[in-house]
Amino acid sequence: CGIVAYVGPKEAYPVILKGLKRLEYRGYDSSGVALLNSGLKVYKKKGKVAELEDSLLGKDVHANIGIGHTRWATHGEPCDRNAHPHQSENGKLAMIHNGIIENYSQLKNELVKKGYNFISDTDTEVLLKFIEDIQKNNNCSLEEAVRIALKRVVGAYVIVLIDQDNPDTLIAARKGSPLVIGIGKGEHFLASDASPIIEYTKEVVYVNDYELAIIRPDELILKNLGNEKITPYVTKLDMELAAIEKGGYDHFMLKEIFEQPDTIFDCLRGRLDAVNASITMAGVQNNIDQIKNASRIIIIACGTSWHAALLAEYIFEELCRIPVEVEYASEFRYRNPIVKQGDVIIAVSQSGETADTLVAIEKAKEQGALIFGVVNVVGSSIARISNAGAYTHAGPEIGVASTKAFTAQLVVLTLIALKVAHEKGSIETKRFVQLLNELHDIPEKVKAALKTADAVKKLADKYKDAKDFLYLGRGYNFPIALEGALKLKEISYIHAEGYPAAEMKHGPIALVDETLPVVFVATKDSYHEKIVSNIQEIKARKGKVIAIVTEGDETITAMADDVIAVPEADEIVAPILSVIPLQLLSYYIGIAKDLDVDKPRNLAKSVTVE
Ligand code: G6P
Repeated sequence: CGIVAYVGPKEAYPVILKGLKRLEYRGYDSSGVALLNSGLKVYKKKGKVAELEDSLLGKDVHANIGIGHTRWATHGEPCDRNAHPHQSENGKLAMIHNGIIENYSQLKNELVKKGYNFISDTDTEVLLKFIEDIQKNNNCSLEEAVRIALKRVVGAYVIVLIDQDNPDTLIAARKGSPLVIGIGKGEHFLASDASPIIEYTKEVVYVNDYELAIIRPDELILKNLGNEKITPYVTKLDMELAAIEKGGYDHFMLKEIFEQPDTIFDCLRGRLDAVNASITMAGVQNNIDQIKNASRIIIIACGTSWHAALLAEYIFEELCRIPVEVEYASEFRYRNPIVKQGDVIIAVSQSGETADTLVAIEKAKEQGALIFGVVNVVGSSIARISNAGAYTHAGPEIGVASTKAFTAQLVVLTLIALKVAHEKGSIETKRFVQLLNELHDIPEKVKAALKTADAVKKLADKYKDAKDFLYLGRGYNFPIALEGALKLKEISYIHAEGYPAAEMKHGPIALVDETLPVVFVATKDSYHEKIVSNIQEIKARKGKVIAIVTEGDETITAMADDVIAVPEADEIVAPILSVIPLQLLSYYIGIAKDLDVDKPRNLAKSVTVE
């Protein structure tokens, strides 16, 4: 979910509405605002923020204080009734919430016994009425009631409340979900990330877990749950407004795909020095002994970031000769994992806020492992909790399906592996220098790979009606096959499965007939002859073969139904190129099916619930 709030001299509604549109990537099942003028007005609507906006045309939205929310449903179906903000029983308080209250049913039972009614199915309404009840019973301030309530709450949250009796004050608190406060002149902005704030101010405070904020136009008070004041740590945003706008593209996803030559360049900038054969990464350098002597590296991630992690396993093991395990954060955190001192944990996350990844690394940190974050969003929770890290510097990624953040993750993870291997002496200098040069050339080659867009668009029209797709790859291209399949599922709602090309004959081959498109990620590498045999196995069963190959690959071109060629590159960096046509394929199929590629149904970009 995404939250926005404002207090100050401006009209609150336009600020909140614009902010919600920027945060829609975090969820778009329903949205709502609560505005406080002479009284409290709450408006909510199922669907995207634009639908809320339409429904409010002509309504009284005048106010200088307000809160807004865009939802990704957890408790209760997406509908007007379950949309935020929720209101207290006495109608005086309104609250927005991002996260999950795990003990909500217990709290709800207590409140029902006391005679409280519930309009929605949400855990949020329970928390709000719990706060209301505490305030009533203790005859205390809202701030005090929030503090008492939060001590009993199990779960993750960011909450923001407005109160009709204190019409110049917002109260906010955080545990586990992100909250940024923007400091303007006589005004404050609150949001789940900096994007709704950036055009008004660059001065921000990232609220930490277990902190409570009392915010008025001229005042920001931060406290811990023990009611002690904390000095807010003000940082400057390093982000430009243009970075979060579409800049002439039809969709953020397309813009972000086409930005990749630049984002990869940014990611290498200041780190890679091919001329002097060196890599500068302070986070790695400062911990080099621990990393190069690690008994094991465990890489933890979710979704697309997990695919980057899987590829990193292949690269680290090859170059650094350190055993690597790749874990889904949600599985790792719940199974009493074995983490020893001497283990190094790498957490990979675009948003830096994914709840499962965050909790998994908290757990590993407690057990004494070094946590190294590979994160895109500067100042995010995972970045802050890590002992060390390297940002991916891909800039804000708005399209819900990850593209440029993925290739930036691949670049950073490859740089780390190369640096560690070099320091450890597990890579020959000649090979080290060769790979540095390969990385140096990657932005230009990505540019060339993007020239396949027109050809990929034609393929999209040809295959858009397929019911299923199979994506196959071997070695370094196996994680890319998984990523290609995930992208297609996310954007086009076509069922797709990624599989190791050789493993295909142990099951998925039963699916092959003349209607099944099979995408082979088959750029030139040490497995090339083997994958040629796998293509033949599919052709022999009349499957339709779409192959992503290296330019000049005549063997596969002669066999495949359709071929997309990317520039030649070493097998360790080639996946950064082979994924480009797959990103484009899912985009163009989504467009051909007239789907909302930037905001696919049911997904959210930043999943801050477990
Ligand atoms: C969500 C997004 C995916 C993303 C995953 C992990 O499911 O829709 O695109 O890969 O979360 O997110 P993270 O921010 O941790 O990389």
